[in-house]
Amino acid sequence: MMEIEEKYSAGIYSKRPIIIVKGKGSRVWDIEGREYIDCVGGFGVAIVGHSNEKVVETICEQAKQIIVCPTVFYNDKRAELLRLVAEITPKELSKTFLSNSGTEAVECALKIARKYTGKKEFIAMKRAFHGRTMGSLSATWKKKYKKNFEPLVPGFKHATFNNLDSVQDLITNNTAAIIVEPVQGEGGVYVADYDFIKGLRDIADDKDILLIFDEIQTGFGRTGKMFALEHYNVTPDILCIGKGMAGGLPIGATVAKPEIFESLDKGEHGSTFGGNPVVAAAAIAAIKYIINNKLPEHAKIKGEYLLDKLRRIESNVIREVRGIGLMIGIELRFPVKKYILEALKKGVLIHSSGISTLRMLPPLIITYKEIDMVIEVLEEVLKT
Ligand SMILES: Cc1ncc(COP(=O)(O)O)c(C=O)c1O
Repeated sequence: MMEIEEKYSAGIYSKRPIIIVKGKGSRVWDIEGREYIDCVGGFGVAIVGHSNEKVVETICEQAKQIIVCPTVFYNDKRAELLRLVAEITPKELSKTFLSNSGTEAVECALKIARKYTGKKEFIAMKRAFHGRTMGSLSATWKKKYKKNFEPLVPGFKHATFNNLDSVQDLITNNTAAIIVEPVQGEGGVYVADYDFIKGLRDIADDKDILLIFDEIQTGFGRTGKMFALEHYNVTPDILCIGKGMAGGLPIGATVAKPEIFESLDKGEHGSTFGGNPVVAAAAIAAIKYIINNKLPEHAKIKGEYLLDKLRRIESNVIREVRGIGLMIGIELRFPVKKYILEALKKGVLIHSSGISTLRMLPPLIITYKEIDMVIEVLEEVLKT
């Protein structure tokens, strides 16, 4: 199996040596039947758990009903999802474009920001990650992801995260928007200061610039609120979401103030698969599950429990533990690869942010017992 994947895949991922064939809740199983607690969570996608029953039932029912319905036709499930998204996001953000991934959600945000404002430039943050297609890649910070693919989209500048002066310094008469993750994920799990996000809103209002929040990783309860923007009580002009929104099926969404979308002419943007009925139905099921089971609260309380336990681990390998809700980074003094492989051998899957930070994005339904098991493994692994 591994050889086949190695032989025929593009080969661009550094792989972990297991073949995962099954998942349920916070656990996954490999082809030999070994069980793992999954703190990678499909890069933060498995918010409602693997193969969540409500999501699975909904997908099966909808697949029997209709799978394909392009967006030139109306569809019941798509309509219901669009209304639900409007209900759970700030009331000013009442229009949504549905796509298939986070990077597409960002591409749409960048396009509508240019069209609406008539301006060309963007301010993103150092350490930011917004995706890998040419527009979102231009907003992304890491040189390694970008340097061999230039020229990228012109007009992107990067300010220092949590530093308003640095943002002010980059503003020109041609700045269309500021784009920011309220908690930087890929960049190493850094939470934005309250005053920084408030200040960005003030600057944007003052200078007639749009504010874009990329909540692709922070959305749907991950940080202890349905959206991280609720920690700051700040409404952006455009909100990008995705990851766990459809219970594990591919989705992205760009949610914005109506006047911003209204600046687009018919046909100026589109997607073959965006708004697919099966994905829309799965998203309705996943979002209702998140709401009905109060998963943001679970993330808050369990996140505090996990953070506290992590901070108590006595290990000189750990430099810093950071995070909010169930979005947690453990910065080490050494490259993390060896520790990731050790944890895997002991039945815990954990991801990285860069070279030296372990990143945990477990399903929000993870149990306290599972958290304790994870802590036990990490204590052992990080001992040396
Ligand atoms: C904040 C943020 N934006 C955008 C993306 C890109 O999403 P996708 O991989 O679904 O294109 C990610 C993915 O990790 C992300 O964390």
